[in-house]
Amino acid sequence: MLSHLLLGSFVLFIYVFVLKPLCSMFKLKMQFGQDCKMSYHFLGGEIWKRLNEMKITHDIFKYEQEQYKRHPYKIFVSNFLWKIRIQVTDPEYYKVMLHNHQYYEKVNVINDNNLMKKGLIFEMNGHWKTQRTLLAGQFEFLKLKNRLPMINQVSLEMISELQCQNNILEVLELITGEIVIKSFFGDTAKKITIFEKDIQVVIAELLNDMGEIRLKSKYVYVKRLILGTMACNFFPTENEKKIQQRIDLVKFEITKLIKNRLIEIQSSTQQSQGNSKSNLFIDVLLQDYIDNYHSKSESQAIDEILQQFITLLFAGTDTTAVLCYHCLYFFALYPEAQQEIREEVLSVCTEEHILDDKFKQLNKLSAFINEVLRLRNPAAKLILRNSIQTHQVKDLKIQKNWNVIINPLLQSVSEQHFINPDDFDYKRWLTPEPILNNDNFIYLPFSAGPRNCIGQHMALMEAKIILSQILKQFIIQPNEHVIPKWTLRFVYQLQPSNCVRLIKNLRQQ
Ligand code: HEM
Repeated sequence: MLSHLLLGSFVLFIYVFVLKPLCSMFKLKMQFGQDCKMSYHFLGGEIWKRLNEMKITHDIFKYEQEQYKRHPYKIFVSNFLWKIRIQVTDPEYYKVMLHNHQYYEKVNVINDNNLMKKGLIFEMNGHWKTQRTLLAGQFEFLKLKNRLPMINQVSLEMISELQCQNNILEVLELITGEIVIKSFFGDTAKKITIFEKDIQVVIAELLNDMGEIRLKSKYVYVKRLILGTMACNFFPTENEKKIQQRIDLVKFEITKLIKNRLIEIQSSTQQSQGNSKSNLFIDVLLQDYIDNYHSKSESQAIDEILQQFITLLFAGTDTTAVLCYHCLYFFALYPEAQQEIREEVLSVCTEEHILDDKFKQLNKLSAFINEVLRLRNPAAKLILRNSIQTHQVKDLKIQKNWNVIINPLLQSVSEQHFINPDDFDYKRWLTPEPILNNDNFIYLPFSAGPRNCIGQHMALMEAKIILSQILKQFIIQPNEHVIPKWTLRFVYQLQPSNCVRLIKNLRQQ
């Protein structure tokens, strides 16, 4: 009896973990031939392979890029446990997928239902659409233009601290985090601290720890894969419990801020602060709640706004800071380009604040940022998705519950689309046709389609201001005492955070 049970379990185990995924993988291989790369892992997954290769190549995507250059493919199919994971690299396919976004839910990397699920990144369908429409206005040119003095002020104040800093990336994160906080709450959020740390630092550390915990512990990784966002309640590790306490504390502080603002708006005589004229994200969201008073309770509304805030802070802090950090690193590697761009900045930006009329004149700086985004985009691959229903993408059938990764990064390093793709050459972006065989889906630093990056113009404005201010004040040099590594936290990023040194440019004093 027992032996039958054991045999049955063994057969079931082999079916679920070996035969079933392999069967789907072979089907795709037979259909696509050379255009399908296939890699089966018994129980484990690609991620561990990548982390191991990283120890040799110092770049988590290097091996993948080399492989692709040798044998380009349209799809790469692998597995994690029983789940098929399909990576789509062909623009003809991901173009359709980006358009038909309703077939996919993004896998919540943070893995906590109460922090970002209701925010723009992870929401779906009707609620996503309403929120996207509401917030889109806040990212239009005029609103961004009104925010430029604040962005200049924040970056000027903190850049002066950069010289004596070993952790350049952290200062950049403080700047970009403060900009999102001020865009959301205005000056109300001035210097909120938890345990004597600025709130954006506390949140950034919390989010990073929440993301990293899955890579540090295979137990947590597998638990999350099986249980999804329920995983943190199931036999939590000590680290998971500590993280939960930090989440509660952060939520408590932010809820206080939102409630105070709601009282201010409700008691203001004309309620004009909450209307579309306001420059603050929170006002637009609170006004929507006031206008549709009966659609949800106050606590629901506050919770949604809290999650939207964490979402924007998550989406807008690390990405933009890391982009600036990568630019600084390439400035250090290419001192001639650095000097050319510094000269452009000095001739265009003669005043302390850099406002919108200057951006169009900063052609070389824009080209440099484009080149950094081509080779080292912090959002290199799109967030892992889960297919929520079986559907067809051209001749590719994607089954319900497959994991899907849209990967435009490989097109950016392909000879089909860029001349000498491995060379860092910012001047290619000053030529009329920097992209060969371009169908507008080759170079997608901010993704495309209805779920593209809502903050892309804000990010580029921030980067131009921060980099110009730094170029005006400092000479950027590589730090020879560290080994630079291109790794993955939430974003694809250079580590450690002191790969460059900033030397005060005395000629500009
Ligand atoms: C260099 C900086 C940035 C890069 C490279 C970047 C890139 C991206 C990419 C590739 C996506 C699509 C993600 C996916 O579909 O999986 C995205 C989405 C998003 N980004 Fe950005 N982003 C940047 C800065 C910002 C900023 C500053 C904000 C706001 C303050 C922001 C807010 C968002 C939001 C809310 C989404 C989700 C939009 C939706 O699904 O409707 N991003 N970003």
